[in-house]
Amino acid sequence: MKIAVLPGDGIGPEVTRQAVKVLRSVSARYGLAIELKEALIGGCAYEAEGHPLPPETLALAREADAILFGAEGGFQYETLPRGLRPGDALLTLRRELDLFANYRPVVAWSELADTTIFKPEIVEGVDFVILRELTSDLYFGEPRGIERTADGTRRGINTMSYTEAEIRRIAHAGFRAARSRRGKLCSVDKANVLETMELWREIVNEVGTDYPDVELSHLYIDAAAMALLRTPKAFDVIVTANLFGDILSDEASMLVGSIGMLPSASLNADNKGLFEPVHGCAPDIAGKDIANPLAAVLSVAMMLRLSLGREDAASAIESAVRKVIAEGHGTRDIAKPGKEPIGTEEMGDKIVQALAA
Ligand code: IPM
Ligand code: MG
Repeated sequence: MKIAVLPGDGIGPEVTRQAVKVLRSVSARYGLAIELKEALIGGCAYEAEGHPLPPETLALAREADAILFGAEGGFQYETLPRGLRPGDALLTLRRELDLFANYRPVVAWSELADTTIFKPEIVEGVDFVILRELTSDLYFGEPRGIERTADGTRRGINTMSYTEAEIRRIAHAGFRAARSRRGKLCSVDKANVLETMELWREIVNEVGTDYPDVELSHLYIDAAAMALLRTPKAFDVIVTANLFGDILSDEASMLVGSIGMLPSASLNADNKGLFEPVHGCAPDIAGKDIANPLAAVLSVAMMLRLSLGREDAASAIESAVRKVIAEGHGTRDIAKPGKEPIGTEEMGDKIVQALAA
């Protein structure tokens, strides 16, 4: 199995280092033949090679069976021309590899209930997946840009667009995901206002006739944003458009206690995937050994399960994480009140020790 490792910027390299450490340990234990190759992406690639996604990085990503991605970005790159910003590299990768199905599981572990801002009875038992469409919508729709109008002022334009085929394939992925879980799919749209979303709802309903065993419901994005905090336990699988999924997944991180706990998988039609923490590059805490590496570590578990077909190794990692958390260890973002937080590196070591136990 060839794995491309793209640590990126900010806390990307330090959390990815822990993820790779855990991957190597689990590979040795389960006899997995993996070959890791690292490449630059994002701001560091721009600095070294003048482009956030150098051709050799794209080539490596293309030939790999799976990609482990850290994070990209940084304040200093935010004013670069579009196309050269770190975030553009990730968007190009998603689009070039057709990684249209982005799975963002949200599991509120009871061990972390007291680190959230919610009453325990709201979050205990929360276990759902946000399935975000990742290669279309306002993110990629044309026309786009900032143009000068006749009166000399400027106008910004982006286009929300979905083809039937794009909606159909993410809808199928949503129903399949629901079927493999508790059989409930909630499609989130804005069909009351937007034609694109009217089509979304129509196609999701149509695809639903192939899955009579799955209970389908629909919510508008505004109502969904509220329901996610009011009755989060009611959700099983949420399928939604690119932008709505981006927003809902950050919101959902609050249910878990920290965005540092959320892994993600972005898959194409052949289950080749890019695995990355939902969090960003967090430049303010980078290089301080305080970032939470568990989203990256849990992304390795998703990679083993979804792209490499190794459920055994995947659940071993998840159990190890759970054990370390149950023992009361946490980085600063998830540390128990009154308990000394541990560092990024130490968290990685604890997971490796738990795997060995
Ligand atoms: C995410 C991120 C990205 C997105 C950014 C970094 C381009 O917020 O993966 O959620 O908007 O998709
Ligand atoms: Mg986001």
